Amino acid sequence: MALEKDFKPQMLKDHADATGLRGNNLTFLTDLTREQLYSLFTVAEMLEPYWKSGISLLPGKVLCTMFFQPSTRTRFSTETAMLRLGGSVISESDPLHNSSAAKDESLWDTLKVVSQYSNILAIRHTDDERVLADLPAAEVPVISCGYGNITHPTQGLLDMYTTYRALGKLEGVKVLITSPDLSRARSGHSFALGLARMGAEIIYSGPKELPTPDLIMEKIKSTGAKCTVHNDPTSQEQHDLIAESDLVYLPGCSVPKGLGERDVFMERTANYYISLEQLEQIREKTGKIVGIMHSLPRFEGEFDKKIDDTAHELYFKQVAFSVPLRMALIASMVGVD
Ligand code: CP
Repeated sequence: MALEKDFKPQMLKDHADATGLRGNNLTFLTDLTREQLYSLFTVAEMLEPYWKSGISLLPGKVLCTMFFQPSTRTRFSTETAMLRLGGSVISESDPLHNSSAAKDESLWDTLKVVSQYSNILAIRHTDDERVLADLPAAEVPVISCGYGNITHPTQGLLDMYTTYRALGKLEGVKVLITSPDLSRARSGHSFALGLARMGAEIIYSGPKELPTPDLIMEKIKSTGAKCTVHNDPTSQEQHDLIAESDLVYLPGCSVPKGLGERDVFMERTANYYISLEQLEQIREKTGKIVGIMHSLPRFEGEFDKKIDDTAHELYFKQVAFSVPLRMALIASMVGVD
């Protein structure tokens, strides 16, 4: 190996700067290059030792979270990440009742106003078109914590980072993204965009009448990634898709509340159920341990809870890896001096 002139110890700041995220919004993962994403993962690896103890990188900086939809993981994990970086958090978990949004203040004005109190915003909202139109009002970088049915990039990033830490790579990894409703699977779509950017192979399976939104398919296509779609697979076809994959990703989506709708949804879900026996059969036949990922919360009928205590389980590990990943993201977007 040749010696290099610029050989020196690593600096977290250099890797954070190399993400190109400083001062910018995070909306779609295909907006980032492969090199930027790897820089972010390097920052996350450097911060992993501090994900519980904390490290004072952003003292005096303030994160403002406004979630117009319910959340446990995304809001708490994002807020924990800022607190672990030595920053502070102001949080509104129910803006439609407790903020001036309840008095019909526009999202544009809300973004303008809360930018004055904070150094970075984290927003979850039902209406992706509204948020994308009003984002220019924000005067600090904005993290999408889920907009409408199309994008949930921090979930996609933590799923990518967990995959990277579990398998040591993303290039060439084969991921089955499967759901009884792909039309509302925003975490699966964000993961797919990130995987596509990193040279992984994506396999979608789901009902023909509830497909992945066109916008997402176009963005995947633009990366040149290998992506196949399987509509209404039979049980045997679904089993074969699982067997040929390294990972199965269940994006989850809320069960419809209406009784009739709920019954139809649960019936559809049964076609995609993953049992531990099925995974053990695949392991016996191929020697492969297929990892099961889920953005959570899960609901009864999606997969076997016995998977929790096996090497197939990745969904709770994703939750843990979300903290150093989101620490890396916030540090990179706010900037480390
Ligand atoms: N995975 C996820 O987005 O979970 P929450 O809805 O609890 O944030």
